[in-house]
Amino acid sequence: MSDFEIVTRKDFSDVTYLLEVRHPLMAKAAKPGQFVIVMEHEHGERIPLTIADFDRDKGTITLVIQAVGKTTREMQQNCRVGTYLHALVGPMGIPSHIGAAKKVVCVGGGLGVAPIYPQARAYKESGAYVIGVVGFRNKDLMFWEDKFRACCDELIVCTDDGSAGIKGLVTKGIEQAVAKHADIDEVVAIGPPIMMKGCAEATRAHGIKTIVSLNPVMVDGTGMCGGCRVKIGDQVKFACVDGPDFDGHQVDFDDLMARLGRYKPAEKSAMETWREESCRVRGAADAALPAAPAPAPQHQ
Ligand SMILES: Cc1cc2nc3c(=O)[nH]c(=O)nc-3n(C[C@H](O)[C@H](O)[C@H](O)COP(=O)(O)OP(=O)(O)OC[C@H]3O[C@@H](n4cnc5c(N)ncnc54)[C@H](O)[C@@H]3O)c2cc1C
Ligand code: FES
Repeated sequence: MSDFEIVTRKDFSDVTYLLEVRHPLMAKAAKPGQFVIVMEHEHGERIPLTIADFDRDKGTITLVIQAVGKTTREMQQNCRVGTYLHALVGPMGIPSHIGAAKKVVCVGGGLGVAPIYPQARAYKESGAYVIGVVGFRNKDLMFWEDKFRACCDELIVCTDDGSAGIKGLVTKGIEQAVAKHADIDEVVAIGPPIMMKGCAEATRAHGIKTIVSLNPVMVDGTGMCGGCRVKIGDQVKFACVDGPDFDGHQVDFDDLMARLGRYKPAEKSAMETWREESCRVRGAADAALPAAPAPAPQHQ
C-alpha cells in the first residue's frame, strides 16, 4: 500500500472537491505554481493537478479538483478520508517567480481560484500589496473567500450572474483594479484558457506584465512526450518543464485551445465506457444485497 493517505475531503459543489493528502516530503519541497501527477489506482490514468496549498508542519498537500471527465469523476467517487492514492509524483514544473513586485493583482477564475492562492500568499509574504480578483459563475460555486481575505490587501469578487460581488467576468475586476491603482507591477492569472486570454488582452494596452499558468494535456510531465507543447512568441515550449507559467502576452491561446479540443472524442468514449462499467458494478452489488425492508407506514 502507498503512503498517500487522504486526510481531508471537502465538497465545494457537485463538481468541485478538495483532497488534503499526507506526503511530508512533497509538503516540504512544494513551491507556489508547481503541480503533481496523480494516479488514483494501479490502472488509473496519470493526471496533472496543481498543488493548491501545502502545510509543511502537518506534512500535507492540498488538491482542488473539478470533475470534468472519467478520471476526475472516478476520483470524486472513490477518494474518501482514509483511502490512499496509488501514486503521487512531484513537485513538478518551475515554481512561480515571486519577484520584487510591489503591487500585484492575482486573478483566479473558477477552479483557477485554488492554484492562484499559494501565489497570492507568497506575494503577501514577500511584502507586496496584493489585490485578489476571484471569479465564479455564481455565489454557490464560491470557495476560499476567507483564505483570500486573509492574504489580500483588497479582494474583488466577480460572479457572472451578480449573485456575489460585482456582476461580470474577472476582466471587469482587473479593469476596476487598474482604474484605481496606476502602479500595478504585475498581473498573474489562472483559469480556463479563454479567461487567461481575456486577462492578457485586458492588460496588454496598459503594458502590465501578465503571467498565466497553462494547462495543456500532459502525459509524462518530464519533457519526453511532447504532449504539452505550447507556442510562446516564436518559440515552442513544453509546459511541464519550461512552465507552466508563461508571459501571457506571448502565449498563442488559439493553438492551446485547438490542441485541448483534439482529444474530445477519445475522452467522451472513455467516459461512456467508465459509466457503463460502474453502472454494471453497482447493479451487481445492489443485486447481492438483501431486499430492502418495506417502508414504515406514515402516520399523520
Ligand atoms: C499543469 C496542470 C495543472 C492542472 N491542475 C488542475 C487542478 O488543480 N485541478 C483540476 O481539476 N484540474 C487540473 N488540471 C486539469 C486536469 O489535469 C484535467 O482536468 C484532467 O486530466 C482531466 O481528466 P479526466 O479523465 O477527468 O477528463 P477527460 O475527459 O480525459 O478530459 C477533460 C479535459 O481535461 C483536459 N485533460 C485531459 N487529460 C489531461 C491530461 N492528461 N493533462 C492535462 N489536461 C488534461 C482536457 O482539456 C480535456 O478536454 C491541470 C492540468 C495541468 C496541465
Ligand atoms: S507532458 Fe510530456 S513533454 Fe510535457
